[in-house]
Amino acid sequence: MKKIVVSNKVHYLGTNDRKKSLFENNWPLPNGVSYNSYLIADQKCALIDTLEFGSKDDYLEEIENILEGRDLDYLVVNHMEPDHSSMIGWIIRKYPNVKIVANLKAFKMLDAFYGIPEESIFEVKDGDELNLGYHNLKFVLTPWVHWPETMMTYDTTDQVLFSCDAFGSFGTLDGGIFDDEINFSFYEDEMRRYYSNIVGKYSHMVQKAFAKLSGISIKMICPSHGPVWRTNPSKALELYDKWSRHDSDKGVVIVFASMYGNTEKMADYVARLIAEQGVKNIRVYDVSKTHVSFILNDIWKYKSVILGSSAYNAGMHPMMQHLCNELEVLNPKNKNYALFGSYSWSGGGLKSLVAFAEKMEWNQTAPPVELIGSPSEPKMEGFARIAKTII
Ligand code: FEO
Repeated sequence: MKKIVVSNKVHYLGTNDRKKSLFENNWPLPNGVSYNSYLIADQKCALIDTLEFGSKDDYLEEIENILEGRDLDYLVVNHMEPDHSSMIGWIIRKYPNVKIVANLKAFKMLDAFYGIPEESIFEVKDGDELNLGYHNLKFVLTPWVHWPETMMTYDTTDQVLFSCDAFGSFGTLDGGIFDDEINFSFYEDEMRRYYSNIVGKYSHMVQKAFAKLSGISIKMICPSHGPVWRTNPSKALELYDKWSRHDSDKGVVIVFASMYGNTEKMADYVARLIAEQGVKNIRVYDVSKTHVSFILNDIWKYKSVILGSSAYNAGMHPMMQHLCNELEVLNPKNKNYALFGSYSWSGGGLKSLVAFAEKMEWNQTAPPVELIGSPSEPKMEGFARIAKTII
């Protein structure tokens, strides 16, 4: 591979994973994902995070080529999730003198995952600095973005932020590595999907991280997934700020779970009524067909949500239950919502949706609609109110 220089003495050592189907064995990767690692070859040499094991067979060779016979002095561990840390053992075997730079919360994990004892770790605390010669690294502890031990590394010399998961994205880097080399419209969707699926639960901690970073000038952001922000890092900052404040766009996501098509007809009916109100951003999803990853992404994107389920074993449909479980865990806030359901004898689908929605503390705009059997115009009168109020 060609050497990719990020900035003065900073090399990009990332790779694309197009083989893995599910990130964390949970979230689909139709467009793959990149793992980014960075090597600073200064008077002292420091590797910033590693890669997922097996994702780049010539990783060690590339490090060796850049170091040109020199030793690796430091390995900075911003985050212990194995998509960034599972090459640590290989780095230590090749460079036995390397100092592992981490904060206290990573110690236990370094031992538990890789058998690295506490005494061989170079501990850094919030605000500590490490001089490499030209570059000067400052460590900013940003817990829960997205594990408790997470920190960011800020190069005070060139004002580069190595942010790990923050500002990262799903999607491989297909030739373009930097924000000025790519069509961002593709990555914006994948970046929000990464945010909503992986980081969103910890939005309040993202806001705390923002507060910490607010006083520093950031000329470049080097995340551990997705494009490197060398030209317009303020775009990444702006999007993350918006998503972590639960600010969303005008639009409606309608999600239904339907066994034989009656609940689906209700979804299409209300979607049409909403379109007649002049709303253009309307997405209708069959939760049994579309993976919740993509539905959650659109729910994070848009202000309004309508959920509908058939009754199933006296509760909601299991696929809708899965979505509701994820919503409860990831906890998107500030939503307008409405509900609907259908049943054949004793019901229970809508009732369990109502119980779910009460826990979410969203804003219900109109009473729910529930019908027995197949839909007909008179049975669906209640949708007019939902369509008028949901936006
Ligand atoms: Fe990309 Fe939390 O790992």
